Parts: sequence; structure tokens; C-alpha cells
Amino acid sequence: MRKKLIAANWKMYKTPDQTREFFREFLPAVSGHDRDEIVVCTPDIDLAAGIEAVKGTQVAVGAQNVHWKTEGAFTGETSTTMLLALGVTHVIIGHSERRQYFCETDDTVNMRLKAALEAGLTPICCVGEVLEEREAGSTDDVLRRQCVRAFHAISAKKAGNLVVAYEPVWAIGTGKTATPEIAAEAHMVIRREAAEIFGEDFAAKLRILYGGSVKPENASVLMAQEEIDGALVGGASLDAKSFAAIVKY
Ligand code: PGA
Repeated sequence: MRKKLIAANWKMYKTPDQTREFFREFLPAVSGHDRDEIVVCTPDIDLAAGIEAVKGTQVAVGAQNVHWKTEGAFTGETSTTMLLALGVTHVIIGHSERRQYFCETDDTVNMRLKAALEAGLTPICCVGEVLEEREAGSTDDVLRRQCVRAFHAISAKKAGNLVVAYEPVWAIGTGKTATPEIAAEAHMVIRREAAEIFGEDFAAKLRILYGGSVKPENASVLMAQEEIDGALVGGASLDAKSFAAIVKY
């Protein structure tokens, strides 16, 4: 049995004060909930406030990106060492918004992923097709290619706590959700590719999250799919009540 992971991706929203306010409302709403693993990925500027707030609870705090070097002259970047020093446990890697707006490539995704795994962080590595690719019938090829490149030169042993998020780009922030069947199909493609790369045992344990307009209203049908091992939630994770409702789908 794969324990589901319900992850919030706050993107570029909330200040440290708003972060504290969120957790004041969110933590009591999910107290004692241990069926699923819960992580809130905040902007870097909010990590310290988040970690302080969740101390002593089962809720984890994650980052949304990390550099592949442990230190150096890389203006504006954050390293795994820095995240670990704060108490960060998870990190999103290769989100489609980073690929689309910040020149993230399959190669940089691979470098970030290796660094995160090396540091013992739990990386949530995002893959997903854009609308034109889906309409052209190339979704499976795109997913396979993204996986092959992201996982390049990573052994099953090193990939230990890897998590993958399937996020069809056409479903992100659009209100359009992939049907549970579409999502499950894509997850199977990813799992088969993971089996090719890391072996069957690893693939059977690999958690694959779905992301793209997950809301309290659709969380339970999505999570009912055997192939779906959790959710990566953007917009609906900004409100404590709504994210708590998703956690407790
Ligand atoms: P959304 O974002 O839930 O707002 O669609 C998901 C994501 O980008 O991770």
C-alpha cells in the first residue's frame, strides 16, 4: 500500500504573516489525520514561518525549487543545504511554470532532482503534457521522454523517496481537471517508464500524484483511483478550509 501524499503548492502567494495565519486555521482542522502524508510547499521567504508553525505536528513544509549546487555564486538561488538547515523535508522540482517561464529544461530538472535525492529531501518531480501535445496524441511520448530525462543516471537505490506528480499543463489553474480515467492512464504510463528505469519493485512503490485544478469537490473521485497516490494542489491550497477539505477527501 502506498501512503498518499497531499501536497500544497502555494506558488508566489502569501507573506510570513499570512503563512502563520494559514497554519493557525489549518492545523486544528487536520489534527490527528495520519491516513495521508501532508506537506505545504511555500515560497522560500515563508519557509521559516511555516516550519515554526508546524513544529510538533504531522504536517511537513516543502520548497518549490532547489539549486543543484550546495553553494556558490548563483544569485537568487537556494541550495539543499539551506533548505535542510531550516527543516525543510520536501521540494517540488520541474513544475511546468518553471519550465514555461524560467527556462527550466529536462536537464536542469535532472540536476535538481539528483541534488535533492542526494541531500535526503523528498523531491516531487513534475511531468505533464501541454494541450497541443495531448491533442496531437503524443501525451505518452512526452511523459516517457520527461521521465527518461529527469531520471537520467539516477539508480533505484539513489531514487529512494522520489515522488512524481503528473500535472497536465492544460489542467493547471484552468478549472479543467483531467478525468480520473485520463489521470490514471497517464499514471500507468509513468509507472511503466519508472519500471523500465528503476525496476518493477521500485515502480510498484513509487507514489505518483495528480495535479491540476484539484478542489474539495473533485478530490474524492480522483483519490479513489488506485493509480493516484495523492495530489499536488495549487489554487485550492491557499485557503486553509479548502485545503483541509482536500486532505480529508
Ligand atoms: P492548480 O495548480 O491546482 O491551481 O491547478 C496545480 C499546480 O500547479 O501544482
